[in-house]
Amino acid sequence: MLLGVHMIMAIGGADMPVVISMLNSYSGWAAAATGFMLSNDLLIVTGALVGSSGAILSYIMCRAMNRHFLSVIAGGFGSGGGAPAAAGGAQPEGEITPISATETAELLRSSQSVVIVPGYGMAVAQAQHAVYEITQVLREQGVEVRFAIHPVAGRMPGHMNVLLAEAKVPYDIVLEMDEINDDFPDTDVAMVIGANDIVNPSAEDDPSSPIAGMPVLEVWKAKTSIVMKRSMASGYAGVDNPLFYKDNNRMLFGDAKKMLDEVLTALRA
Ligand code: TAP
Repeated sequence: MLLGVHMIMAIGGADMPVVISMLNSYSGWAAAATGFMLSNDLLIVTGALVGSSGAILSYIMCRAMNRHFLSVIAGGFGSGGGAPAAAGGAQPEGEITPISATETAELLRSSQSVVIVPGYGMAVAQAQHAVYEITQVLREQGVEVRFAIHPVAGRMPGHMNVLLAEAKVPYDIVLEMDEINDDFPDTDVAMVIGANDIVNPSAEDDPSSPIAGMPVLEVWKAKTSIVMKRSMASGYAGVDNPLFYKDNNRMLFGDAKKMLDEVLTALRA
């Protein structure tokens, strides 16, 4: 018990999904070891399956977050547990351009292709149903709408896929990062809903950034990007986002659900 408590105390709060899959993996190895002791083949096989799948999932999550597995399981001790990474890299320059819900609706209506990037904020606001209603209205008006899913969007693997499936978004318009990242230059509007780190250009441009090297969705390559969030606060990684200051970016401030409802009303008007 002491060993278990000590190991988990050392892990940062927001790394919890990695911890859960890691503990799953440990339980599998423990079952396999018990299988060897009891000479029980079934326990050995099922234990090895659980152990290896948990280990593979932990590794995939760490790789998508550009973090080393060892730094996840050893990090955070004494830092207040899950404190965000210290801000690093250059401070972004430029001004932010706010946009209203009505203007957003007009921009969406006049587009030919729209890519929606959901993030943790969409889950917090439970805005997935409103997102789908907007998708339906736009598709009825002949706009091509697709979703871009980053492997670590939200706080657990498949977080966004589960929410979109719950809202009954068709699977064929939900695309993984590698499938859609090259399409941003041909996209009229990239709508970022409650996402931050997964669309941070400093991961590509700034080697001193704490998230340098993490693959990101290149929404700034779209003709216009709209970021929907409540404030200028940073995301999980605790770093500023130069995307907000780009000339072709607009900020729609407010709770994602409330803002999307307003956009929907304006679209239907
Ligand atoms: P984040 O970078 O955490 O950004 C989420 C943003 O949502 C915040 O900046 C916040 O800004 C906004 N937000 C929160 N509540 C909102 C609301 N009600 N309405 C509108 N906006 C809201 O999320 P992300 O872009 O999805 O990236 C995920 C991060 O989590 C990555 O850094 C990843 O490494 C990390 N992580 C992921 C996982 C997995 S497996 N998915 C596991 C552990 C860690 P405001 O406060 O200004 O609104």
